[in-house]
Amino acid sequence: MLERVDVKTRQADAFRADVWAGLSRPQKTLPSRWLYDDRGCALFEAITQLDEYYPTRTETAILKDDAAQIAAFCGRDAVLLEYGAGAGLKTEIVLGALDAPQLYAPIDIAADFLEQTAARIRRRFPGLPVHPIAADFTSDFDIPSHVPSERRIAFFPGSTIGNLDADETLAFLERMRHHVGGGGRAIIGADLKKDVSTLIAAYDDRHGVTAAFNLNLLARINRELSGKFALDQFVHEARWNESESAIEMHLVSLKEQVAAVAGRSFAFRRGETIHTESSRKYSIESFSDFAMRSGWRDRAIWTDPQRRFALFGLSAE
Ligand code: AVJ
Repeated sequence: MLERVDVKTRQADAFRADVWAGLSRPQKTLPSRWLYDDRGCALFEAITQLDEYYPTRTETAILKDDAAQIAAFCGRDAVLLEYGAGAGLKTEIVLGALDAPQLYAPIDIAADFLEQTAARIRRRFPGLPVHPIAADFTSDFDIPSHVPSERRIAFFPGSTIGNLDADETLAFLERMRHHVGGGGRAIIGADLKKDVSTLIAAYDDRHGVTAAFNLNLLARINRELSGKFALDQFVHEARWNESESAIEMHLVSLKEQVAAVAGRSFAFRRGETIHTESSRKYSIESFSDFAMRSGWRDRAIWTDPQRRFALFGLSAE
């Protein structure tokens, strides 16, 4: 119990520090991981069901269609390490296709969520050892030694890798490679570059679910940091940043205003924005380049007929 209170306090301190620092920058920025409180997770779940939001459904279809090839790529006795334990259905497709998987280790910072995922997988795959690892996969951590070191496969679906900037992407890919060791492999989902109107629609849907998801960040600041954001004085915007090859989410101030957060005030010009998320879109070549630079070799690519999304099969040697 004490430990849990402690985690909550540390989390609130980290949130406040990030908000204060981010809102003090010339381009106001908030780290996208704060979008995912309970309400944010529920809204993201709703986004994945939208007509305009193609990534989840496309990736799921690729996993199903190419399950046999993906299983062959992983081989027998695979030890599946999943980074970010949210993927539910996708995990089940892969585990269901694998030839005698040895162990499943979901990795997530949200301990409650991690336990739920572990329990669900144990029910679906009785007999499969499930070893949850509570860790923030964006920072350095070790895989516990009770996880067999042979035949490790790093699984990172969902194009979450797209939220990282170039340096973070390289560091993350290097860490993954270190985690799986010499004979290891990885399967990583990445969203592909496509026409801008399709991308904008996916991140600014007509039902306003993405807008609600983005604005929930200000509501969360109000809830958890006694913030004083006027929620009706900011609007959601999705923009394409060509030089970063990323869709960006912003919150645009509709007027000149001041918002207080935990006792500090931040001034906004009319039209000034808070950048809340970047979602990088890759070409097959640009992703392969990242993989190569972080010491991986690209061995396989699974994609949909329209080439909207790709799963990359990498090997450490
Ligand atoms: C969960 C990070 C993969 O970038 O597409 C969806 C988040 N943001 N709509 C993405 C998101 C706005 C999503 N990821």
